[in-house]
Formats: sequence, structure tokens, C-alpha cells
Amino acid sequence: MYSFILSFTALLCLRQHYDVLAAPVLSAQNLLSLDPYPNKPRVTFRQDGTFKITVFSDLHYGENPWDDWGPQQDVNSAQLMRQALTIEKPDYVVLNGDLITGENTFAENSTTLIDEIVAPLNEVKIPFSSTHGNHDNNINITHIAEILREQKVAPLSYTRTAPPGVGGEFGPGTYWVPVYADTQAKKPILILWFFDSRGGFSPGANSKPVPDWVDSTVATWIDQQTSIMNTAWGPAENNRASMAFVHIPPHAIQVVQTTLNSTINPGLNADILGVGSTQATTNSANSGKDDAFWETLNTKVKNLKVVVSGHDHGNEWCAREPTQDVIFCFDKHSGFGGYSSAGWLHGIRSFVLNTTVTDVKAGIESYVLVEDGTTRDRVFLDRNYV
Ligand SMILES: *[C@@H]1O[C@H](CO)[C@@H](O)[C@H](O)[C@H]1NC(C)=O
Ligand SMILES: *[C@@H]1O[C@H](CO)[C@@H](O)[C@H](O)[C@H]1NC(C)=O
Ligand SMILES: *[C@@H]1O[C@H](CO)[C@@H](O)[C@H](O)[C@H]1NC(C)=O
Ligand SMILES: *[C@@H]1O[C@H](CO)[C@@H](O)[C@H](O)[C@H]1NC(C)=O
Repeated sequence: MYSFILSFTALLCLRQHYDVLAAPVLSAQNLLSLDPYPNKPRVTFRQDGTFKITVFSDLHYGENPWDDWGPQQDVNSAQLMRQALTIEKPDYVVLNGDLITGENTFAENSTTLIDEIVAPLNEVKIPFSSTHGNHDNNINITHIAEILREQKVAPLSYTRTAPPGVGGEFGPGTYWVPVYADTQAKKPILILWFFDSRGGFSPGANSKPVPDWVDSTVATWIDQQTSIMNTAWGPAENNRASMAFVHIPPHAIQVVQTTLNSTINPGLNADILGVGSTQATTNSANSGKDDAFWETLNTKVKNLKVVVSGHDHGNEWCAREPTQDVIFCFDKHSGFGGYSSAGWLHGIRSFVLNTTVTDVKAGIESYVLVEDGTTRDRVFLDRNYV
């Protein structure tokens, strides 16, 4: 009940702000300043032209609060976060879903786990934002409750919610973040897209399963947002690149696993993808429709350099998805909570952009850093990457 009230009030509050961005006709003034974060510092590349994003995925805080083991996993995860932030010194951090193991948490204090999760990020004052996963929706937790808490306790959180009617029930966490070459630039050169793949269970006593794919209303929203951006900043083709983050991998990734080559697609490949491991877009509840989200994302968002998911803790490879000709990467299971297996290790995936300032079609370097301090699975993601 608490979550329902919170979410309704939140949507009312956000409505006014989002109508500005969603309006089909914008004044010239508004177009020039298309900035969803007028009151936050701009996210910018470094002076040397590079920009590093570090992804923490599947942190799974809050497991077994009734014993000693559970809280100890969160201590270990926080230590991993601090270690990785010290080594990587990223310019932006993404928390790519399953921040909390919702089925283990209590109604009265489930979102206080968000305070623990963002503490290492608050300490180093690095801008960041989150996607949310199937474990972030449950009887005592919702995506919207986590988002509101994060916005409240993390000054450099760039997490937002989609306008009313976009994202489907219990899937509010869809938004984009502009990244600029420098603080004075008139328009961004990189757009970070974040999508809510929902899943898990609805809150409260009559809890029901929530569809685990990006709702098709998001496709319409992408179409609209890219059109507004093109009007405001000019066509994307030679002006800006994009990256996308979504907790559950798109369904089209499933078949890609059968064509991996460990030289080209290095990294742990221990989770066989099947029912539950990718977005269930083909579910009959989706009336057998095509994956409107996946189609539209890849058609409308130009220079989409990579799509990044977590969810399957045993996978950490990158590969090209041939139907949409786009690179996909699993990130790396970061949390000591959540399922794992001997030898998988925990870690992070980083992406390093360089020369994007002068060439938005340039490639991106990516690698995984694991808990023992070693890096692995280094790949260069560019037009030649297969
Ligand atoms: C939800 O929270 C209530 C109140 O703390 C608790 O009694 C219940 O066990 C929790 N339910 C689940 C499924 O965790
Ligand atoms: C949340 O509340 C439960 C039950 O009241 C308690 O056992 C647990 O330690 C609390 N967790 C946090 C993170 O405060
Ligand atoms: C994997 O890719 C490498 C590098 O392109 C190539 O030399 C090798 O033959 C490939 N292996 C298989 C089994 O296709
Ligand atoms: C970025 O690219 C430039 C030009 O190729 C190179 O000199 C520089 O070392 C690169 N910087 C990093 C941090 O990789």
C-alpha cells in the first residue's frame, strides 16, 4: 500500500516537469536548452577527450537480513565498490539493476538499503544513475520506491522516471542522460539511455508477476525523444553517439550465445540463456508482437555503440547482435549477494570512450576488473567488431 501511494504521488509531481520534454511542439528557447538536469552539474568528458563509465551490476543488497551471512555480503559488496572506484576513477557510474534482493526485505526499511548502496558513490562525488531489475520489484519494494529514495539521498544521482503512461506498470525507470564535451558545449556528444525491463512481482498482499520485458510504450517514447533531440541539436549521425543500459538482456541476445568465439568474445560464459534469462518479449502476454523496443531503439538511435545488460551472473562477454547489427555486452556481477558459483568472481565492467570529441563513430574500449584486482576480457568495440 505504502508503495502505491508513493508511486502515485511521485508521478503527479514529475508530470509537470516531463510535459515540457514530452510536448510535441517546443519553443526555440526550450529546444536550445533541452536539458533534463538544469539544477545538476553537467556530465562532461575529461579535458584529454576521454570518458570512462564503470558499471556495477546485480549488487543484490539485503539478502538474509535475519542472519550474519546476509549483511556480511553487503559489507563485501561495498568494499568491492570502493576498491573499483579507487582503481578505475570513472567519470560516470551505472548501477545496472537488481540493486536489492527484494524478496528478502521488510516493508518498513527496504529502501534504506539504497543509502548503503550509494554511500561509496556519495563519498567520491561521481555522477551516476540506475536501472532496476526483476529483484527490485517485490512485495516490499518497487522500482519507483528505490528511485525516489536514490534521488533523495544521492545528490549526484541522475536517475529519472519516464513520463506517465510510458514503461508499463512497475517499469518507471526509463530516461536519458546527456554527456557534453565540456561545460560550455551547446549540445551533448553522447546520450546515455536507460531502460526499465521490469519483471519480479507487484507490491503488497495481492502480489502478481510483472512482465519481464521493456514495454512497447517505450518504443513510441524513443521515437518521440530522438525526434525532439534531432530538432534541438541537429541529426545524430555526425553529432552524437549513444549507449544503452537495460537490466534484462533483449530477447535477441539469446541466439547470439550459440556463435561466440572466445578470442573475439572473451569472458565467462557459464549461464546458458533460456526462459527467464532474456526479456520474454515472445511471451503470449505480449500477443506475439515483435520486440517494438528493440526495433525502435536500433532504428531511431544513431551511433548506438553498445547495449549493456546484467541479470545473468555467469556471463560477461560482448558480441555483435546480427539482426540489428549492434554490439551487446554483459556487464559483470558485482554483488556478493545473488547467485554465483566457484571461480566466477565478482567485479565490474568499464567502458572507455576516446576521440569521441572529434569522431562520434570512434570505437570504445571495454574490460572487466575482478575482485583480485586483475583486468580481463579486454575488447575494442568498433565498426570492425564482430
Ligand atoms: C514484508 O515486510 C513485512 C513487514 O516487515 C514482513 O512481515 C514480511 O515478511 C515481508 N514480506 C516478504 C515477502 O519479505
Ligand atoms: C530491517 O528491519 C528488519 C526487521 O525489523 C531488521 O531485522 C533488519 O535488520 C532491518 N534492516 C535494515 C537494513 O535496517
Ligand atoms: C575465433 O576467432 C579467431 C580470431 O579471428 C580465429 O582465428 C579463430 O579461427 C576463430 N575460432 C573459431 C572456432 O572460429
Ligand atoms: C586517446 O586517444 C589519443 C589519440 O589516439 C591517445 O594519444 C591517448 O593516449 C588516448 N587516451 C587514453 C586515455 O587512452
